[in-house]
Amino acid sequence: MKRRVGILTSGGDCPGLNATLRGVAKALYERMDDDVEIIGILNGYQGLIDGDWRVMEPREFSGILTVGGTILGTKRTPFKLMRVVGDDKVDKVAAMKKNYKEMKLDCLLCLGGNGTHKTANLLAQEGLNIIGLPKTIDNDIYGTDVTFGFHTAVDIATEVIDRIHTTAGSHSRCMVVEIMGNKAGWLTLYSGIAGGADIILIPELPYTIENVCAAVEKRAKEGKAFSIIAVAEGVYDAEEARMKKKERAAKRAAAGERTATDRIARQIEEMTGCETRVCVPGHMQRGGSPSAYDRVLATRFGTYAAKLVAHEHYGVTVAMVNGHVTENPLEEIAGKSRLVPDGHGMLEVARSMGVCLG
Ligand code: F6P
Repeated sequence: MKRRVGILTSGGDCPGLNATLRGVAKALYERMDDDVEIIGILNGYQGLIDGDWRVMEPREFSGILTVGGTILGTKRTPFKLMRVVGDDKVDKVAAMKKNYKEMKLDCLLCLGGNGTHKTANLLAQEGLNIIGLPKTIDNDIYGTDVTFGFHTAVDIATEVIDRIHTTAGSHSRCMVVEIMGNKAGWLTLYSGIAGGADIILIPELPYTIENVCAAVEKRAKEGKAFSIIAVAEGVYDAEEARMKKKERAAKRAAAGERTATDRIARQIEEMTGCETRVCVPGHMQRGGSPSAYDRVLATRFGTYAAKLVAHEHYGVTVAMVNGHVTENPLEEIAGKSRLVPDGHGMLEVARSMGVCLG
């Protein structure tokens, strides 16, 4: 009997998804040859709910190592709605279980971030054989030191900060660069350090605008007429940090603010007199070819997942711990996230370089 392995990519895309699909597939075909069939489920869990899938040909996994995005398509299907029956009257969990059975799957591999892992855990608890693979540019999956996609995004955001440096210097301006990351500041912290940002603001450390402006003015006094401020999209100031989530959202909505970035820029200009501009690279940070680091990581994670399939070891997600690829039980990591902890070494590094952290 052929082993039937389902595979899907869910949540926001990122570079390295295709490299991981390829890693899994090539390692499975290498191990099991004709005894394995890979079923591609399209557009994440939505495809599993709708029964949108096809048997993949081995050649479909060739030539995709360097290709950005995902050949399977992806979609955000929020975990909190998985148990909610909507207007379409579809019981999503029942539909996923039914389609898993109809596809005659032996197991299902779910490539995704925190939301994907919560649903993966739900499906495992419903009795399906699930293996997760940790993807996200935010690097915030609990229990793994790194996720694929993160280092490519660091490279892209660093290039943005590099390029902003020259124009900031020419015009003696403050440049506020908004980096992706709603809850976790890893991407801003790493690219901020790699790009030599003067001020780095992350969601884990609420800032005060006074501290930010003091850092700009200190640099000005030292003869440095420009400053680069790397801001995670999810940052809030100390006053907002004391508010409840809903209260904060209402305040932002009333002010017409998407993020704090524009406000920070305006306040810097008002309080220091330094002409200020905003740069939002946005989804560019998730686009294009994966870096060499991410290609290697994706291939390591993919081959490890193939080994888990071969050993029928399910209910786990692949992880990197202290330089070794391993796995964590889904139930231990689902619903948790990995934020930048107080006192983390990278924060110390930033402070040692004289970087203002807000
Ligand atoms: O989770 C990755 C991420 O890029 C976050 O950094 C960002 O907040 C979010 O996705 C953006 O989501 P969307 O692609 O749905 O706009």
